[in-house]
Amino acid sequence: MYVYNVLCARSPLRLPAWDGRRERYGLSSFGVWVRDPLDTPARYDAPVARPSPDPRALHAFAQALFEGASYRYDRVASWLSYGQYRRWHRFIVSTVPPGAHRVLDVATGTAAVAFLLAQRVPRRVVALDLSAAMLQEAARRLARVQTAGRIFLVRGAAETLPFPDASFDAVTFTFLLRYVADPPAALRELGRVVRPGGWMASLEFGLPDLPWRWFWWLHTRVVLPLAGLCVSPGWYRVGRFLGPSIESFCRAHPFPEVRAWWEAAGFVGVRRRRLSFGAAEVVWGRKR
Ligand SMILES: C[S@@+](CC[C@H](N)C(=O)[O-])C[C@H]1O[C@@H](n2cnc3c(N)ncnc32)[C@H](O)[C@@H]1O
Repeated sequence: MYVYNVLCARSPLRLPAWDGRRERYGLSSFGVWVRDPLDTPARYDAPVARPSPDPRALHAFAQALFEGASYRYDRVASWLSYGQYRRWHRFIVSTVPPGAHRVLDVATGTAAVAFLLAQRVPRRVVALDLSAAMLQEAARRLARVQTAGRIFLVRGAAETLPFPDASFDAVTFTFLLRYVADPPAALRELGRVVRPGGWMASLEFGLPDLPWRWFWWLHTRVVLPLAGLCVSPGWYRVGRFLGPSIESFCRAHPFPEVRAWWEAAGFVGVRRRRLSFGAAEVVWGRKR
């Protein structure tokens, strides 16, 4: 530790000093110790199972999970998905027609999708998320980019959107459904704010078919927790949570059921595209 701190003090890289508290530091994938200011509450032994389907408990769970992983979220998510994360984002954005000028991006996290939406076409994007920590990262991102004036960050929950009916041309949401107590009800609420003839698109994790499922299983059960452990306690928690959470959701709700939820929420022409051998799925449709 002493040697590390001396090297830090002399390093032109301005690395943070290490005070020995394991919770506050992680070894990044490039072997550099990084400070993780929001990570303090996360613990290596924190529970990672999804709590009971009580909406308030789920909100608290999601907020704690993402508070621990918000620091450098995009970079780490990109490493841990072998660069696929950005490709998935580009694909969901490509399903939103250029004619959609008022777009709501729900579970926006650090606003990566919102940023792409506003960059591709000069449109107004409302970016909503439950987690203050993720929105803080989004605000940092927007402070650096030119589309910032057209993106508005809102803290809120997908199940109770603070917008009138039919107020958007399109809604996008990413990796949300595993965190809501009642996915069909959440889809109805998301559909409520889309104008008739407007669009909705989602990006969620999926379960690859055999033989890719064996690699996926190895990745989610071994690589993700180990890589998360090397990044920070918060990412270790995410790394242990993701595999079982994705698998149980996908087994419980196959695509025909999800399509029925979309149709019940008022969408027609509901389509699905599986990406990266099925590790991610984009679903989109048009509001009646
Ligand atoms: C895996 S992150 C995805 C972040 C971002 N969309 C991306 O693709 O990088 C899931 C996000 O969903 C948010 N979230 C979870 N439950 C939510 C809810 N009920 N309402 C709104 N956002 C929610 C979390 O705070 C988190 O930022």
